[in-house]
Amino acid sequence: MSIHTPKIEKKITLSTIAGMKGVEPITMVTAYDALFAQLFDGEVEMILVGDSLNMSFLGKEDTLSATMDQMIYHTQAVCNGASLPLVVLDMPFGTYTSPEVALKHATRAYQETNAQAVKIEGGKERAHIVQALTQNSIAVLGHIGLMPQFLRSEGGYKVRGKDQADIEVLVEDAKALEKAGVFAIVVEGVKEEAAKAITEAVSVPTIGIGAGNSTDGQVLVWSDMFGFFETFKPKFVKQYLDGAKQIRKGIEAYRNEVKGREFPSEEYTY
Ligand code: KIV
Repeated sequence: MSIHTPKIEKKITLSTIAGMKGVEPITMVTAYDALFAQLFDGEVEMILVGDSLNMSFLGKEDTLSATMDQMIYHTQAVCNGASLPLVVLDMPFGTYTSPEVALKHATRAYQETNAQAVKIEGGKERAHIVQALTQNSIAVLGHIGLMPQFLRSEGGYKVRGKDQADIEVLVEDAKALEKAGVFAIVVEGVKEEAAKAITEAVSVPTIGIGAGNSTDGQVLVWSDMFGFFETFKPKFVKQYLDGAKQIRKGIEAYRNEVKGREFPSEEYTY
């Protein structure tokens, strides 16, 4: 059963998010431009300018070739469109290979956009990089489980947490990130049991995607959840709209009316 919740009227801060764990589920969606960010303003607590834009916006096969310049450009657009949600810039592949490299790029993210945090994929093995940012007052959203930026080294997109040993690895990852100072952790593509164990093991909120209903919040890629990607329908995505169908209907009607000299009628003419 869905409930009607009031619109969000106050600016969401890092402490708002921290205070929501165990109190109220956190909502997050991706956005890549001002137009959509404006539509999501007041509806969700967080917007992720995900490097998924490389796939859904640029039409690439994966997220690996996204650049810092792109992420900055799109984050500026999102910040222009939405004033209330906490905006997170997703650090692209290759921009956090060491604490120094990460600090250089994350500093740029803070200086050139109004993002309140950056996101980094990785667990225990990258906790020292996360710490270098948090110690320099840059807020970090962690990301563990299935990590799209590491699909080549992992041998593809693989659901994690299928056995007790892997659940323990994931819990250790989450704890290391918590210790390094993340304000929340995205948990992607893991079995529900694993997501539950992670969520119970840390005091920071977990934001799930393809991780079941036990996490402290949920995130979805907007173009998936609104049905703009017709060929890509992973099990975890619920389509709240048939976006592609609606757009096709609209463009077809426009074409027919222009070809038939129906548009513009007098109503649309000076
Ligand atoms: O890039 C992205 O959109 C993401 C989400 C899938 C969490 O990282």
